[in-house]
Amino acid sequence: MNHLALLRRDTAISNTTTAAFAADVQAGLSARQKNLPAKYFYDRRGSELFEQICDLPEYYPTRTEIGLLRRHGREMARLIGPDAEIVEFGAGALVKIRLLLDALDRPRGFLPIDISGAHLSDAAAALMRDHPGLRVRPVAGDFTAPDLVLPARLPGTRCRAGFFPGSTIGNFTPEEALGFLRGAARMLGDDNTGNSGLLIGVDLVKDPTLLHAAYNDAAGVTAAFNLNLLRRINRELGGDFVLERFAHYAFYQPQHQRIEMHLVSLAAQSVRIGNRRYDFGAGESIHTENSYKYTLSGFHHLAEQAGFRPVAVWTDPDNLFSLHWLALD
Ligand code: AVI
Repeated sequence: MNHLALLRRDTAISNTTTAAFAADVQAGLSARQKNLPAKYFYDRRGSELFEQICDLPEYYPTRTEIGLLRRHGREMARLIGPDAEIVEFGAGALVKIRLLLDALDRPRGFLPIDISGAHLSDAAAALMRDHPGLRVRPVAGDFTAPDLVLPARLPGTRCRAGFFPGSTIGNFTPEEALGFLRGAARMLGDDNTGNSGLLIGVDLVKDPTLLHAAYNDAAGVTAAFNLNLLRRINRELGGDFVLERFAHYAFYQPQHQRIEMHLVSLAAQSVRIGNRRYDFGAGESIHTENSYKYTLSGFHHLAEQAGFRPVAVWTDPDNLFSLHWLALD
């Protein structure tokens, strides 16, 4: 498994201090609707499980997006133009950035933004070997932070193109998604010579049966991914969750156009984490993740509110997934 893939996009997490994790867990489990932030899924085991999810027959997003990059990469490259610097938000799977770089005309720079920038060095060296004209400059930082500043554009580059695949934007609330898009517009727009923009993967509203299957796979990998959060709390915060007493529960909520993932307590029980006790009623749930799905027009509207101009969208024949080129003028 490659480093970028292991770290996944939410590595904002991997360096998060135990204190912040403990505070988030305490706040979440004390709320009326118990909840845990989805960013904590991605410890080492969680990242491996997510990699497995991406290969599941029911989980269409990864292979559909890769198919779009393979099929339409040249069109994307034409819109981005030659001599571009690519800014990837989060450390994504190498296969996707490679497909984009392979399609581009003389890509000059690659800036993966990730909290654990240092861990990217092996992957960066491999990319530079395959693209001799490319300079890889990992940026250590939280790409959702409103004040993140990117290094100046490399001399000789013609534009900056953001890359945010995987529909990670779906794990943000619509307000957070708008905040992210505004921040991306600011970062990519600095120094804009007219061609900058954002290439972003967005999962689409569809038949709920397909969505349900994607988050309730037959092999139980998504369930293991969800439950791993409790294991992480046990290990890192001294919790005593008994995993067998909780069940993975994921469903599509049409009113909000989102999959909700929960962990449901199978009995009335108390759980200790450090010196605190949390009581669960039988059937009470911990809300662990939202995964929003968009219509094309709904996403365009959001992008426009953030200051982007939707220029092109690529979808598969079954309209499962979309990749958008959003320009900054
Ligand atoms: C990372 N993210 C886009 C995935 C999703 O589909 O929302 C995370 C995931 N959760 C369960 N399966 C996959």
